[in-house]
Amino acid sequence: MTAAPERPRADSVAAMDWPALEQAVASCRACGLCQRRTNTVFGVGDRNADVMFIGEGPGADEDRKGEPFVGRAGQLLNRMLAAAGFVRQQVYIANIVKCRPPNNRDPNVDEAAACRSYLDRQIALVQPRLIVCLGRVPSSNLLNTTESIGRLRGRLHRYGSAGTPLLVTYHPSYYLRSPDQKAKGWQDLQRMLELLGSRTPLRP
Ligand code: URA
Repeated sequence: MTAAPERPRADSVAAMDWPALEQAVASCRACGLCQRRTNTVFGVGDRNADVMFIGEGPGADEDRKGEPFVGRAGQLLNRMLAAAGFVRQQVYIANIVKCRPPNNRDPNVDEAAACRSYLDRQIALVQPRLIVCLGRVPSSNLLNTTESIGRLRGRLHRYGSAGTPLLVTYHPSYYLRSPDQKAKGWQDLQRMLELLGSRTPLRP
């Protein structure tokens, strides 16, 4: 019997359940980032979450632990979530790429493209009511634009064939560098809560 021709990788990823997807990411060698990783960084949180946060890629702490947003930026993200009345376990958190780019550089176009089917499958499985892009890399990748965060913020975008509502905000590391800008993060969280139809947020 002749073996069935291999379907393109994206098609097979698009049909995966969570265990298969996790396994595919853990063993992925689709781009050069695999060569220097300690761990793949799959994603974390509630797989039925209303809101999904998407960052750019693992840093050193995340590479070591195999979990997104566990370093300083992650601690700030946790505090921002708490201010909006969430704990980390109630949302889903993932990145554009699942392996650490060397020296924390931005993932390049090929690396982001090689990882995209994994993220798209995570989005399809979670079916969030809202996606929040943290910073320029996820925003420009998911919205396929070179517009600045400043211009993308404050607008409601849509993602994918499901037309999932998508908001853009600055990356938490921006607020670590420029704490005087944190009010913008708070504004964006307020908008997120409004869109989720949540009860009144707890504190500014
Ligand atoms: N920054 C990101 O964009 N993602 C992480 O997981 C950690 C830091």
